[in-house]
Formats: sequence, structure tokens, C-alpha cells
Amino acid sequence: MSLEITNVTRRYGEVTAVSDISLSMAPGERVALLGHNGAGKTTLMKMILGLTHLDEGSISVFGATPGSHAARSASSYLPENVAFHRSLTGREQLLLLARLRGVGRRPADELLERVGLHRAADRRIATYSKGMRQRLGLAQALLGKPRVAVLDEPTSGLDPISRGDFYNLVNELSSNGTAVLLSSHALTELEARTDRIAILLEGRLVANAPLAMLRSQARLPIRLRVAARPEKSDEVADRLGAVRTSGRSIEISCLQDEKLGHLGRIAALESLIEDVEVAPPSLEDLYRYYSGGGSI
Ligand SMILES: Nc1ncnc2c1ncn2[C@@H]1O[C@H](COP(=O)(O)OP(=O)(O)OP(=O)(O)O)[C@@H](O)[C@H]1O
Ligand SMILES: [Mg+2]
Repeated sequence: MSLEITNVTRRYGEVTAVSDISLSMAPGERVALLGHNGAGKTTLMKMILGLTHLDEGSISVFGATPGSHAARSASSYLPENVAFHRSLTGREQLLLLARLRGVGRRPADELLERVGLHRAADRRIATYSKGMRQRLGLAQALLGKPRVAVLDEPTSGLDPISRGDFYNLVNELSSNGTAVLLSSHALTELEARTDRIAILLEGRLVANAPLAMLRSQARLPIRLRVAARPEKSDEVADRLGAVRTSGRSIEISCLQDEKLGHLGRIAALESLIEDVEVAPPSLEDLYRYYSGGGSI
């Protein structure tokens, strides 16, 4: 395992920020860590990096104790609020880290290109926009091909195209065997881009499974949206025993095992309808479900 978290608890005075969490990650796995503000995501990440101690349990980073030289050289971190020497240029900052990590100049230059900072690389960081600083932070976290990359809200401040580019970099890392743990509040972008979803609720792990498994265990309704032909919506609604939601659209909510039956009845009305759309529960629906207290 690249990362093994076993029964970890961390308290801040009266607050139990992380409560008895166990979670492991295999090489190349991409895990999204979700949770409300204050759920314990950053605390868990800091413990993995050895930046804060744990009160109970144990963590192993590629077989090493967090904070040890071996663990530090196997892992990388993009903090929630990434800070730099503002008087350095982006390239200088990255080369500084490259030297510390024993990585050559070329990978640093290549990464600046990959995160789209090549044109701004020789400007002082003080002149960077928020998104540019975030890109530089990403370049730092990706430098030297870490075994475990811990990224705290890596896409915050990035525009949609840069987010797409970022997930391409994550895929590249993971296909080279890096385990990637990332936290995010942007649920829709995670759907197709992570292998497993872990949800924290007030410091406890309430879900930890691939999206498809979370879907089938939550048994949330699937929505079928039928678009009726002009003037036919009342008849379609009537024959399907459903309600019109707006205009010519009729919506049916059903469970997975009822879906095909409904689709059969809808198909039989072919002459009355224009289209049908199947909407499985979104990650946002699932997140609401699990963070509302349901657990697996
Ligand atoms: N240094 C600290 N001192 C005291 N309490 C802390 C400290 N750091 C975190 N906490 C508390 O621990 C809990 C978890 O905080 P944490 O920062 O891990 O949440 P988070 O899931 O990262 O939230 P967000 O989505 O807002 O970043 C919160 O109740 C927070 O107030
Ligand atoms: Mg946080």
C-alpha cells in the first residue's frame, strides 16, 4: 500500500477533528476526500504529511512514519493556502524546491510548461494572479514524481480549462503509480476523475467506496425525463401515471430495478414522445445522502 491510515484520531481541545479513521490507498489510486467545512479533511492531510501529530492510531506513507525523511521524500503536498517567497520568480521558486528534492532543472522547466506558466515563469510571484499561484503550487506538488500526492483543494481558483488540464496531470501521475489523495468542494468535476470517494462527516469516515458502489448502496432514485411531442404532454403524463414538471417535460423517479420497466412503458408511447433522458443520482445527491448521516 502507498498509504495506510489505521484508526487515527486527532483532537484539538474539545473538538475531535478526526475520529477513528482507517483508509488505505494502493499505488496509482485516485481518492477524493469530501466533507463540509470543518469536517477534518485538512487535519487528516496534515497528519499524513507529518505536519501535525496524531493522538491515536498510526499512519504509514510508503512504509515510513509521517514526517520521517523517507516519508517526506515519498510524498508531496499542495496546501489549502499555498504560500511562496513573493520576491522570487515562479521558476526560481520551483528550482529551489527541485534542488531540495534532488531533481534536475529539466523536469522543473517541463512542469512550468505543463501547468501553463512558461510565459510567466520569469516574473515575480508577487505579480501572479490567484490561479497562477495555484498552478505554481501544483507544479511544486508534482515535482519529482512523488509516490503519494496529497492535494488540498487543488482546483480552487482555477478556471474550467485549467481544471481539465489539472485532472489530465493527475491521470498521468496515477498511471505512473502515484497514489493521489485530493480534497474538493467541486463535486461535479470529480465524478469521472477519481477511483474512490471518501466522505468525512464531523471527523468520521461515513463513506469510502467507488462511486458506482456508493450509488447502488444509497438506493437513491433515478430520474427519467420524458419530452412529449407538442400538445401530447397531458396524455403522456396520464398514461405514465406521472406529473408534468414544466412545459412538455414529464419526470418519473424510480429505483434502479424499476428503471427498465418504466423505459419499456415509455418506449411503447413512441409516437407521443420526442426523447427520454435517464439521470442517475449525481455525486451531489450522493454526497447529501451520506453526509446527512447514512453510512456504509
Ligand atoms: N490548529 C487548530 N486548532 C484548533 N482547532 C483546529 C485547528 N485546525 C483545525 N481545527 C478544527 O478541526 C476541525 C477540522 O478542521 P479542518 O481544517 O481539518 O477541516 P476541513 O475539512 O479541511 O474544512 P474546510 O473544507 O473548511 O477546509 C474544525 O472543527 C476546526 O475548527
Ligand atoms: Mg480544509
